[in-house]
Amino acid sequence: MSDLPFDEEIEISPGFIVERRSVLVGLGAAMLSALPTGRVFAQAPADGAYLEFLASANATAKALVADTSVSGQDHYLRSIAAIAAGLADVPAPQSWNDTNLGELPGSYQIGFTPGGDPFTVLQWRLEPGAKCIPHAHTYGNVVTVGLEGVTRVSNYEVLGVPDYESSDFFEVRQTIDQLLGPGSVNLVSLERNYIHGFIAGPDGARGLDITTRLKPKPAFGTPYLDITGPRPSRFDKIFQASWEFRD
Ligand SMILES: [Fe+2]
Repeated sequence: MSDLPFDEEIEISPGFIVERRSVLVGLGAAMLSALPTGRVFAQAPADGAYLEFLASANATAKALVADTSVSGQDHYLRSIAAIAAGLADVPAPQSWNDTNLGELPGSYQIGFTPGGDPFTVLQWRLEPGAKCIPHAHTYGNVVTVGLEGVTRVSNYEVLGVPDYESSDFFEVRQTIDQLLGPGSVNLVSLERNYIHGFIAGPDGARGLDITTRLKPKPAFGTPYLDITGPRPSRFDKIFQASWEFRD
């Protein structure tokens, strides 16, 4: 994101921060590095299709990222998603890192695949039944792409204007309940579906988050959604909730 005045640190997932310079390691080096061994996940080969994806997606993203309006983000996310949906698989990340956000150690891991600009490409993998706790994206948008297995993705929006610094209860509406399989996409903008959480199916799951920072990271950190109860409705899935901060 060379044309935006952001610092050298990038948070690619809640609580997982790297320095920008480490993101800019050559893709070739990443492809040639030792591949991690996964018990349940196939390793992706280095693939020219991924380089083609980067060439197209980077150019498209640079052309569209400046319009951060509601419709501008919709256009950006759908354009990147249209390119990413053609990805059958991607090179393995340089390393897998435990997020410490799964219910069991190692059940939710993430890793970088370098080369994205102005976005960062993060791979994630979930052990069978593992969860990524619902959390709000407050300073960047996300295209999530399924690569392997099936994940139930739930998106939410706050009713009214979200106040991330309040400890009071509020209401959220579930806007999406999706089974994300290979080639499926789920979009998070700062205005729509901006809270998301994941639960992997019985075979585990792997996918990509293509994340673009649009403004500086707020001081309050990552808001995790703590749903405390449903409010019955025939039409809306509205829940009472509060924010929880872990970082
Ligand atoms: Fe997220």
